[in-house]
Amino acid sequence: MPSAVLIDTDPGIDDAVALAVAARLPELELVGITTCHGNTDIARATRNAREVARRAGITAPVTSGAAAPLRRAAHPARETHGEEGLGFWLPDDAARPERDHAAQAIAEAAGANHRLTLICLGPLTNIARAIGEFDHVAQALGPVFIMGGTIGVRGTQTRWSEFNWWGDPEAVEVVLSAGLDIRLVPLDVTRRIVVPGDAVRVLREAGRTDDDARFWGDALGFYMDFHRGYEGLDGCVVNDPLAVILAADPSLATWREMHVGVSVSDDERRGAIVVAGDAGAPARVATGVRAEEVLALITQTVFAPWLSDALVRRGAEAAARWLEDHPQ
Ligand code: BDR
Ligand code: CA
Repeated sequence: MPSAVLIDTDPGIDDAVALAVAARLPELELVGITTCHGNTDIARATRNAREVARRAGITAPVTSGAAAPLRRAAHPARETHGEEGLGFWLPDDAARPERDHAAQAIAEAAGANHRLTLICLGPLTNIARAIGEFDHVAQALGPVFIMGGTIGVRGTQTRWSEFNWWGDPEAVEVVLSAGLDIRLVPLDVTRRIVVPGDAVRVLREAGRTDDDARFWGDALGFYMDFHRGYEGLDGCVVNDPLAVILAADPSLATWREMHVGVSVSDDERRGAIVVAGDAGAPARVATGVRAEEVLALITQTVFAPWLSDALVRRGAEAAARWLEDHPQ
């Protein structure tokens, strides 16, 4: 029987891929999507989640959430994800602000689905608020898969910190203290999931005649340009689909039991994972991943009309090379 899952997300290019993957995995029954500030502003994130849901045939409700972190200002990553949040893709309609109901939607889904699986792909603001505002949530939830943080790999925001945890470290603190069954999916494993440049170029070419190929080519083409310009990588790291895939099949990663905390400082450690013996929250942390198999699954679920497994699997080697050349 599939597990009921709710995805909290800030689409965002790799979030878009993650939603499309989730729609096609038989192990998961998507019961809701909540949106958060992060890669873009909340109105665009919500509009983008609806666009992906429409294209992927997702019928679960999309609920708009937090416009800003618990105690800090929002920092949309326009240089990484583009003006509208999905790279070169341009929407027909402007994004409109909506009421923030995400904490309530998470609480309702946790009440209605036994041991609801939560998959968190952006800053943790909505989850922290759901836990803080609704007493039953922490007890009711099943596993909580969190894409965030870095342990031994260079961060995306500072050398030590990854964007989602940097974005709202106080929310991370709330979530870590809530006694949840945490499955952490940090950059150490997500950076191994690279869609290679050759694959993105095929998508862009296919997009001349195919509307869905154009959508993905526009999104990933921008992301690829970002990675080439900032990191010298010919391809793009798609972090978020890995958290979705591990929720469906945890055996694709190796997991280590650890105690983790988060730094809420204002310096370059802001949002960094703190690992200190038995202090911090117990979590299962993904420390290794079968990257080629994950890339094959992403291809089969989203890109199969245009790309072959063999082509996309090559991204695993490009990722491993990049990691070797760029120590933390
Ligand atoms: C995370 O930050 C965003 O750029 C991605 O969507 C992902 O969730 C990776 O650091
Ligand atoms: Ca994200």
